[in-house]
Amino acid sequence: MRAWRLDAPGPPEALTLHTIPVPEPLAGHALIRVDAFGINRSEMFTRRGDSPSVKLPRVLGIECTGRVEAAPETDLAPGTRVVAIMGGMGREYDGSYAEYVRVPRAHVFAVESSLDAPTLGALPEMFQTVHGSLTVGLGAAAGDVLLVRGGTSSIGLTTIALAKARGMRVLATTRAESKGQALRDAGADDVVIDTGRIATDVRARVPRGVDRVLELVGTATLKDSLACARPGGVVCMTGILGDAWTMADFAPMDDIPTGVRLTSYSGGSGDMDLAAFRDFVERVELGEISIKIARVLDFEDVVDAHRHMEESRGAGKLVVRVR
Ligand SMILES: NC(=O)c1ccc[n+]([C@@H]2O[C@H](COP(=O)([O-])OP(=O)(O)OC[C@H]3O[C@@H](n4cnc5c(N)ncnc54)[C@H](OP(=O)(O)O)[C@@H]3O)[C@@H](O)[C@H]2O)c1
Repeated sequence: MRAWRLDAPGPPEALTLHTIPVPEPLAGHALIRVDAFGINRSEMFTRRGDSPSVKLPRVLGIECTGRVEAAPETDLAPGTRVVAIMGGMGREYDGSYAEYVRVPRAHVFAVESSLDAPTLGALPEMFQTVHGSLTVGLGAAAGDVLLVRGGTSSIGLTTIALAKARGMRVLATTRAESKGQALRDAGADDVVIDTGRIATDVRARVPRGVDRVLELVGTATLKDSLACARPGGVVCMTGILGDAWTMADFAPMDDIPTGVRLTSYSGGSGDMDLAAFRDFVERVELGEISIKIARVLDFEDVVDAHRHMEESRGAGKLVVRVR
């Protein structure tokens, strides 16, 4: 089979196409014939060498959709349409940037859907992150005012769509005026241009402060995001688009306003709410929730997909069609 492998950290071109054996079926695992896979920023970090636990060479790719080729000693019949996420895929064992991937049963979810492969392939990691952030991380509910910081990211746009479907008012940020329409198209009620300091602007629109903040830009803007929330409001750190993992200077007594709650969300396949995912897929099928796919690329174009992500060119999810 063909597979994209990382032999040593580097730029997008460090990913190279190889012909390697199809994994043998293994008890308790699903061998999946991959139809499409989403591209994720964590794969970009791994490719750059920022995931020290990942031993190279490795076929990257933490999610996919496809059909079960074989799944001995499991309840999955050959031909079943599935999605798979995380659980070490593309990190501890070879991942989904390939024509076949073998994944432990626990990280594989059967999904019946009329969606085409690239659309279904765009959803699992995005949904798991967004749903987990809104529920576990933020405890957000209908009627809440939600600020999505980093709104044009694929996670941000899906959050906007899901939060609107769940009855929230949504403010969303971008650094670029030109991307404001993408936020409105996703359903945002207000667009805030992110200069690094937006608390005054946000409070001009919501004077008491917002109920919930999804922080996707990260430590670079976290203090300012805390200043956007009302007492009793919640700020959830889910992303680090700003590429800074730690904060040099954090004084909790000064930087967390009285009564504001700071949480984080970092989910895995065990956090996948399958019933909610199936409902989400159905709503996408019905057109009730619209998902922004920035580009569907061919299997040969994985390097270009990584360049696209590195340059933060477009708003939405990058998906690779395998067949
Ligand atoms: N916690 C979890 O379980 C989990 C799971 C998946 C992803 N994530 C994280 O969620 C975040 C979003 O991921 P994604 O794949 O959706 O991202 P993405 O689609 O690649 O995001 C692209 C957007 O990021 C913004 N951006 C890029 N560099 C930035 C910077 N230095 N400062 C501020 N904004 C910047 C740009 O927005 P503008 O140009 O419009 O400002 C761009 O449109 C990432 O940090 C990712 O690691 C977390």
